[in-house]
Amino acid sequence: MALSSAKSKNSGDMKPSGESNYFPISPETLNPNALTDFKVYLRHGNHYVLYTKEREQFSEHLKKKLIENGIGTVYIPYDQQDSYESYVFDNFEWILNDTAIPLDVRSKVFLDTTSKQVCSIFQSKLPAVDETTLDGVRHLVSSSLNFLSTPGALENIGQFISHDYETFTHSVHVFTYTMSLMQSLAKDWEEEAFIEVGVGALLHDIGKIHTPNSILNKPGKLDKEEWETVKLHPVHGMRMCTNVALSQTSLNCILFHHEKFDGSGYPSGMKEEEIPLPVRIITCCDVYDAITSKRAYAPAQAPFAALKIMSNEMKGAFDLDVFKEFIEVLGKTREKSGD
Ligand SMILES: [Fe+2]
Ligand SMILES: [Fe+2]
Repeated sequence: MALSSAKSKNSGDMKPSGESNYFPISPETLNPNALTDFKVYLRHGNHYVLYTKEREQFSEHLKKKLIENGIGTVYIPYDQQDSYESYVFDNFEWILNDTAIPLDVRSKVFLDTTSKQVCSIFQSKLPAVDETTLDGVRHLVSSSLNFLSTPGALENIGQFISHDYETFTHSVHVFTYTMSLMQSLAKDWEEEAFIEVGVGALLHDIGKIHTPNSILNKPGKLDKEEWETVKLHPVHGMRMCTNVALSQTSLNCILFHHEKFDGSGYPSGMKEEEIPLPVRIITCCDVYDAITSKRAYAPAQAPFAALKIMSNEMKGAFDLDVFKEFIEVLGKTREKSGD
């Protein structure tokens, strides 16, 4: 992960210099109504000065004082990183929806937090998804829904999206694009349906835990046997979720996200409207994110080139209505970012 686990020596209020002992955060993300289980420091030159202690409320007054003084960054010791991450997880919905917090800050918190959680699921190499993991994923999805439907959110998140392919960041990107497309193509659906699709999008590649890294990261073309191994990941993913109360909608997203509109996909070869709408949406977002990311066997393509590949070289693979709407959604993003 981006943040290292370097340790700090917490003795006294004035800390010696040592950039690696602390990591920066925006004070805007600290909720005055929540107790924080970590110390918050200000930086003066090469020194770090204690501002609030553990279990001390980061009151509105303390927060205002910082903002009035133009202090946009505070620091937390790396050895309290877990406490800070738990705080963000617990206050995720509040942070994402507090319009007093700049959109840039909220977008970063969204990407960092969802990526870290999904990364820890992949790194745990659990043979099966358990209830605690599923509850965590549901919490992330339900807390993000309102934020992701905010005008400008997708554009803003887009500027922070990395184009280095990792299965966990890919899952977060697919989730983000999918929720935006759902808002256009399934706007009348219940919130619970959105949550189920979001959970399916975040977990769609979970079965890759069972795919050897030597195959996933192979620089060249896969041979027939390796390709057959890769093609098992949707079924592995579904099997990993059989012991938890996962909805049929979420399971469909995991099992069928490599089906193609013309019936040429796997594992079942179903086609057209036989493939549920959320799956057709995920399929489109999945391929787009893969092509626009740098993978072991191919460089990242620019958005326009990726869409061209999808419409020319992969003709028939996608539901055209979904694909057209996807271009619309991305177009709005690019207009705003001036890209
Ligand atoms: Fe996949
Ligand atoms: Fe994928």
